[in-house]
Amino acid sequence: MNENLMNKILSLCKRRGFIFQSSEIYGGLSNTWDYGPFGVELKNNVKNAWWKANVYERDDIFGMDAAILMHPKVWQASGHIDNFYDLKSDCKSCKKRFKAADLKDPKRCPECKGELTEARPFNLMFKTHQGPVEDEAGLIYLRPETAQGMFVNFLNILDSKHPKLPFGLAQIGKAFRNEVTPGNFTFRTREFEQMEIEYFVKPGEADKKLEEWIDYRFNWYLNLGIKKENLRKRPHTKDELAHYARACTDIEYNFPFGTSTSLECHGGSFDVAQDASAKDAELAEARSRTIGWSELEGIANRADFDLKQHALVSGKDLQYFDDATKEKLYPYIIEPSGGVDRSVLAFLADAYSEEKVNPVRNRSNKPGSDISNGVKDDIRVVLKLHKDLTPIKVAVLPLLKNRPEIVELAKKIARDLKKCFITVYDDTASIGKLYRRQDEVGTLYCVTVDVQSLEDKQVTVRDRDTMLQDRVGIDNLKKYLWEKLNN
Ligand code: GAP
Repeated sequence: MNENLMNKILSLCKRRGFIFQSSEIYGGLSNTWDYGPFGVELKNNVKNAWWKANVYERDDIFGMDAAILMHPKVWQASGHIDNFYDLKSDCKSCKKRFKAADLKDPKRCPECKGELTEARPFNLMFKTHQGPVEDEAGLIYLRPETAQGMFVNFLNILDSKHPKLPFGLAQIGKAFRNEVTPGNFTFRTREFEQMEIEYFVKPGEADKKLEEWIDYRFNWYLNLGIKKENLRKRPHTKDELAHYARACTDIEYNFPFGTSTSLECHGGSFDVAQDASAKDAELAEARSRTIGWSELEGIANRADFDLKQHALVSGKDLQYFDDATKEKLYPYIIEPSGGVDRSVLAFLADAYSEEKVNPVRNRSNKPGSDISNGVKDDIRVVLKLHKDLTPIKVAVLPLLKNRPEIVELAKKIARDLKKCFITVYDDTASIGKLYRRQDEVGTLYCVTVDVQSLEDKQVTVRDRDTMLQDRVGIDNLKKYLWEKLNN
């Protein structure tokens, strides 16, 4: 079921313009994805919902947008140059590179059985050069996390906003990691977007604030419609903590992976199908294990690691002056760090549903009934995305496209609604097919203009989830939809 589900989501994403493979006409760039017309709307809605909950609805968090390119010393201070690597072995015959931790036999290539080199550290940061000369002096990195852009601006925020502890910084932006084993669609890619908060607290309050943030972030996903049974909290064991973290809890989603045989493990993955010695039973077991719980967001207590490190390397005083005690201190940092692309994937997977409907030819308000004009199938695919996330809120559809008065009225209504809600107009199929198309992309309300509308100045509004229909006066339509969308 789950493997099937992931295939269906992949197919829907491409067919309906949510997500495409990057550079597809050139055969694609593996594990790199482009967001299409519906995908970009969904992604923006996820980011806007995050910004609203974490910046606009709070008094203690400021937004930021730091540059992707940063001074190379940032990565020295952060520990990324020394600690952000995987041990890798290269095959001397086929030249492929493997993560040492994933290898069953550290001496033999899992693909061609050639001899492997000794495991060597391989830094996950993308390197490039600033300026016209490609030498060591111009070496810079694409940031592997957005977090550092906030730590290095700590002093600027103290000087410009004069905040009192606890307070935080929030940022959404691209990050890059040269992952050796990316995969599972948009789950693990080399270019991705993060939504991160760095929340500065008094050291004695860090444990309490960590727990508060874990609950606050967990509830954010639930409030946006993720089913409770698909979300869980998983505290890290001591040996899996990152070099900067005292404690960390992951919010995990039960992802429906199944199209690959890649085993997810912390910080990477292992593809059993790449292992020529794997037996069918092992592959089957790997497939069953790939369906499941994986990290959506991590909430860490980074203690005073980052500010102390940047103070040490930059030579600047990055302490906070506490007015009450008249003492200087390094605040501890609580960091909720989530992925935009992973959230989008989780919201899509959670919203995808198939429902058996009772096909009827005409308008019916019986539960489970749907207009079937032009549709043979009695299964409808619906993306039950939360109203704040769904790309399109309203679709205006003329019942008869060969009646110019109906088309004209429908277009006029659509033009008017566009000023208030994300609205589309469509007359390219029969009404039954148009409904199904809108269901598939999660459109909340379909407004149908029919012959009767010309006389009684009313339209039919169909609700995506219940399929129930209301007859609403055109004059009252905006108010009706506004109330539905804002309750
Ligand atoms: N600043 C802390 C930090 O970066 P992380 O656990 O490495 O922590 C945070 O990353 C989040 O970023 C993850 O929970 C995940 O949602 C997202 N993420 C990390 N690597 C990713 C990748 N290769 N592809 C897609 N998303 C990724």
